[in-house]
Amino acid sequence: MSVADLGRAELAGRRVFVRVDFNVPLDPDGIADDTRIRAALPTVRHLVKNSARVILASHLGRPKGKVVAELSLAPVARRLGELVGRPVITVGDCVGPRVEAAVEALKPGDILLLENLRFHPGEEAGDEGFAQALARLADIYVNDAFGAAHRAHASTAVMARFVERAVAGLLMKAELENLGRLLDDPARPFVTVLGGAKVSDKLGVIRHLLERVDTLILGGGMANTFLLAQGRAMGDSLVEPDLVKEALAVLGEAETLGKELLLPVDLVVARDFSADAERRVEGRPEVTDGWRAMDIGPRSAERFGDIIRRAGSVFWNGPVGVFEFEPFMAGTEAVARAVADCPGMTVVGGGDSAAALARLGLADRVTHLSTGGGASLEFMEGRTLPGVACLERAADVREGARQTEES
Ligand code: 3PG
Repeated sequence: MSVADLGRAELAGRRVFVRVDFNVPLDPDGIADDTRIRAALPTVRHLVKNSARVILASHLGRPKGKVVAELSLAPVARRLGELVGRPVITVGDCVGPRVEAAVEALKPGDILLLENLRFHPGEEAGDEGFAQALARLADIYVNDAFGAAHRAHASTAVMARFVERAVAGLLMKAELENLGRLLDDPARPFVTVLGGAKVSDKLGVIRHLLERVDTLILGGGMANTFLLAQGRAMGDSLVEPDLVKEALAVLGEAETLGKELLLPVDLVVARDFSADAERRVEGRPEVTDGWRAMDIGPRSAERFGDIIRRAGSVFWNGPVGVFEFEPFMAGTEAVARAVADCPGMTVVGGGDSAAALARLGLADRVTHLSTGGGASLEFMEGRTLPGVACLERAADVREGARQTEES
């Protein structure tokens, strides 16, 4: 099954509802990182150029069905207006007569950003009535919110059923194509680097990718549980003892499949979890009591970097150390630099890895920087994303109708 493209036809003067993922990190000064807003610009510009009446909708944070003033999308509308170089209209809600009137008043090329969808409980509940209220605003539904495609919510997965056409936006297409290529036909050798704190978050993706990769590199807190499974002492490090059995099974599976699974061979350890903690390099991947693993060591960084640089394709998700503390970012920096240097296809997913790349000024040195954290992991786990499945269904229904008409 495949999803339909945005295309050019039938856009002029039409009410085009675009579900975007403007769930951006906020700080006291406003928007801390506008990557997700920038990522939606190709679709927005395409629609404006083709004289559509553009209605954008997103969630922001988790207000749990209530209006939370701090989670208003008003600052996002301002930022989007600056980026797109034209005013972005706001209306204070996302459904109802006032919103419908604002939509009717839109002229071709105008952009309206609705208020936070999650101010209504119907959004996260996937409520059909709420989905229909949103669909009333639209002739065409575009899902460009890859970052929220793993959520079966009213605007991501349900409203597609109630509109004339439901298609993927340009960002959604790019995400599906790039991540899909890694699963279906990766250039070899295919190297995956997984980091982050917990194995429990990544077990599904490890299992699914193990069959497909040539080399799987594990670092960060999650590697500790694998080291523990190999009988290494891990001191006060973060470990998940109840997943030791699973970790052993993965190690065994890698051997059976003849895949290279690499763990750190040395570690940077610290007395406590803070930036200025006493620290030292452990020449072996073992940690004594009173110490905790905070980063991969220099030999691991070099070894992982060499393998990444020679890869035909790379998927990287999750930092390999506590990179937010400067003394423990060397491992993640080595991975990021190697990914940037790799001449093959490089795809990076997850907010932390993206933040590490951005901090090092390397964000534009990768083939594709996914806007989806949870969504990219679920996709790489081989799971069907509800936000994509609804577009596939819509494309199928349309194709079925076309064939009936022809026969
Ligand atoms: C994300 O940031 O991963 C998406 O926007 C989904 O947000 P959520 O985890 O609050 O559903």
